[in-house]
Amino acid sequence: MAHHPTIHTFRRMKEKGERIPMLTCYDYTSAKILDEVGVPLILVGDSMGMVVHGHESTLQVTLDMMIYHSRAVVRGAKHAMIVIDLPFATYSASDLPLSLRSAARAIAEGGGHAVKVEGGRRMVPVVRTLVASGIPVMGHLGLTPQSIHMIGGYRVQGRTEEAAERLLAAAHSLEEAGAFAIVLELVPSHLARKISESLTVPTIGIGAGPHCDGQVQVFHDIMGMYEDFLPKHSKRYANVAGTIRDAARQYIGEVKDGSFPSDAQSFGKGSAVGE
Ligand code: KIV
Repeated sequence: MAHHPTIHTFRRMKEKGERIPMLTCYDYTSAKILDEVGVPLILVGDSMGMVVHGHESTLQVTLDMMIYHSRAVVRGAKHAMIVIDLPFATYSASDLPLSLRSAARAIAEGGGHAVKVEGGRRMVPVVRTLVASGIPVMGHLGLTPQSIHMIGGYRVQGRTEEAAERLLAAAHSLEEAGAFAIVLELVPSHLARKISESLTVPTIGIGAGPHCDGQVQVFHDIMGMYEDFLPKHSKRYANVAGTIRDAARQYIGEVKDGSFPSDAQSFGKGSAVGE
């Protein structure tokens, strides 16, 4: 029996008007903390390529990397539903067996509960195939970073009437194909509202305004750990980079002046190793 929220939990939350908080996570220690405070939905996102591995985009992330990080997150988060991003070029409507193999590896080896795929109408056969094999799928519309070189830059999507209509239609086609939720990234608030109100599955916004059914943010952005760039849609809730800097400076100073380790961190006969 599942002890974590399921796709049905999130549909019910939408029905009741309860907002869904989602965060990305890439490691055991952070997952344990997020789980403890009750984050119900965790995304092992391919944003890890940038915030953990220092790449310029998400395109360098492999399925093996996703699986490796997912296993760590799964060990830490016992109560959340965990969604794993299928990375760039590991799924395509023109290669459904590849898509199924990738998703099956993500779930079986990574240990998460669902996968996320980027793209609109062209993803319909992929979503159908995975859902038919028992794999819950989260869609991802608007700015889809895996297509950044087709889009031509990180910019707001769906701004013209025609583009807005296309996004709305794509959201409906993903819902009909069986997606259990849809991320809307960098979409104007009024359009995200229209899409959210016309779907029965929840929308999870990032840079899509306050009217989505849930919100997702990148862990390192909101914790103030990733300082290369802070997107307008994000907010720093902490200054972890500053805390790390202060602590590391203090450590350097204490090692240099000989005040660390003191007797408290040293061993005599019979003292235990940890707390
Ligand atoms: O990889 C990621 O972090 C994502 C979110 C931005 C939705 O896909």
